Amino acid sequence: MMIDAGILGLGCFLPSKKITNSDLERVVDTSDEWIMSRTGIKERRIAAKEMATSDMGVKAAVAAISDAGLKAEDIDLIIVATITPDMAFPATACVIQDKIGAKNAAAFDINAACSGFVFALVVARQFINSGCYNNILVIGAEKLSSIVDWKDRSTCILFGDGAGACVLGRTSDRKILSSFMGADGSGGHLLNVPAGGSRLPATVNTVKDRLHFLKMEGNEVFKIAVRIMVEAANNAIKKAGLAPEDIKLFIPHQANIRILLAVAKRLGVPQDKIFMNIEKYGNMSAASTAVALVEAGQQKGLKKGDNVVLVAFGGGLTYGAVVIKW
Ligand code: COA
Repeated sequence: MMIDAGILGLGCFLPSKKITNSDLERVVDTSDEWIMSRTGIKERRIAAKEMATSDMGVKAAVAAISDAGLKAEDIDLIIVATITPDMAFPATACVIQDKIGAKNAAAFDINAACSGFVFALVVARQFINSGCYNNILVIGAEKLSSIVDWKDRSTCILFGDGAGACVLGRTSDRKILSSFMGADGSGGHLLNVPAGGSRLPATVNTVKDRLHFLKMEGNEVFKIAVRIMVEAANNAIKKAGLAPEDIKLFIPHQANIRILLAVAKRLGVPQDKIFMNIEKYGNMSAASTAVALVEAGQQKGLKKGDNVVLVAFGGGLTYGAVVIKW
């Protein structure tokens, strides 16, 4: 018999330092008007120099575990979705496991870029459904400011830092009804960090050529994003036996307000059904959907029985969605 997997607790952490569009006007050739009209972003949070991804993940994790009414020892597994791990290894999940004292938990990271938190939820769900684990901590945490090229105006305006966490457990409250994951590796070159791995290990030249920073073909990503977010959402909704009009709230990855509005149009749902916090935080990759889920839960007056869709796309390319019955 399949055991229901649902949300036991949620928590998030956003660094207090804000960088506004006006601040960016002093760094690159841009304007508040351009950034707002092309992306919908007004400001983003930037972690302090000494704060690594795990430090933000710990704060979100502690909040989520407390919200679930659990202790760190009750956690069986920690999955961290990130493309900005503290280091290549050990996994950031292991660093967090140690810092919060979750001594009974296994821990690993996954890399699905901006879809990471959705993918991690889908993975965690399987372990609950199968009866393998009881309480799983799923974290999306990113310090994108550490891989953004602050000389590249087409990317540095988009990204921010933060972390969100969810404890998934054996409950039919806020239950995951269905999920969908997809990938298209042929689009990997559209959004990547070229150096620092086994293909191009760090050298003086890779640093000089700025190859350790995030590169993106924004226009191409934009076009694909709209199509694959709609496809992912529709697939998950169909698997739940529902239709888009049955969904109370869509919580999409916060990449660009124009992408979100185009997705609403293609899904045939009104804009007020699309949760947005991009204005405050920009794109936080795997942390975006995690923080959005936390804030939507706090702000949107969701009631028991409401259907909610979490949907994301990102580097890889990857895309995925989950339907949650609140
Ligand atoms: N300020 C001012 N001008 C800028 C600018 C900035 N920050 N960034 C780019 N421009 C300029 C370009 O140089 C270009 O100038 P040109 O016409 O003289 O060559 C012009 O604005 C238009 O650039 P373009 O790239 O066509 O803009 P756009 O409308 O596609 O917007 C993005 C750029 C990046 C905002 C948009 O493509 C986007 O959001 N793509 C998706 C990115 C994404 O979601 N990535 C994450 C995936 S998880």
